[in-house]
Amino acid sequence: MVLKWHKIAEDISELNISPTGLTEIEIAGKKICIAVYNNTLHACAAKCPHASGVMAQGHIDAVGNIICPLHRYKFALQNGRNVSGEGYFLKTHPIEVKKEGVFIGIIQNSLF
Ligand code: FES
Repeated sequence: MVLKWHKIAEDISELNISPTGLTEIEIAGKKICIAVYNNTLHACAAKCPHASGVMAQGHIDAVGNIICPLHRYKFALQNGRNVSGEGYFLKTHPIEVKKEGVFIGIIQNSLF
């Protein structure tokens, strides 16, 4: 497995972040939820690990958890830990803003 970086935008403004601080993109065949909390970008799986709620349709709470719109499970944006105690884990991805653009890291199964 290898972490591959993909450019997703020239600039954060191209990401069409909603007023809730969330949006969904598709890159390398994967749908990814992008979140902005405290002026920092985070990236996680687009679907909730519980029952496939669309995370970009949820919201972010005051301490930086993303909340699924379906059953309101909470996950820490920093590491995907389920902080509402139900034992699920939301996959997260590294995301970086550089002067060349916005990049997301996705683990892929092969080098090619
Ligand atoms: S689908 Fe997300 S909490 Fe149930």
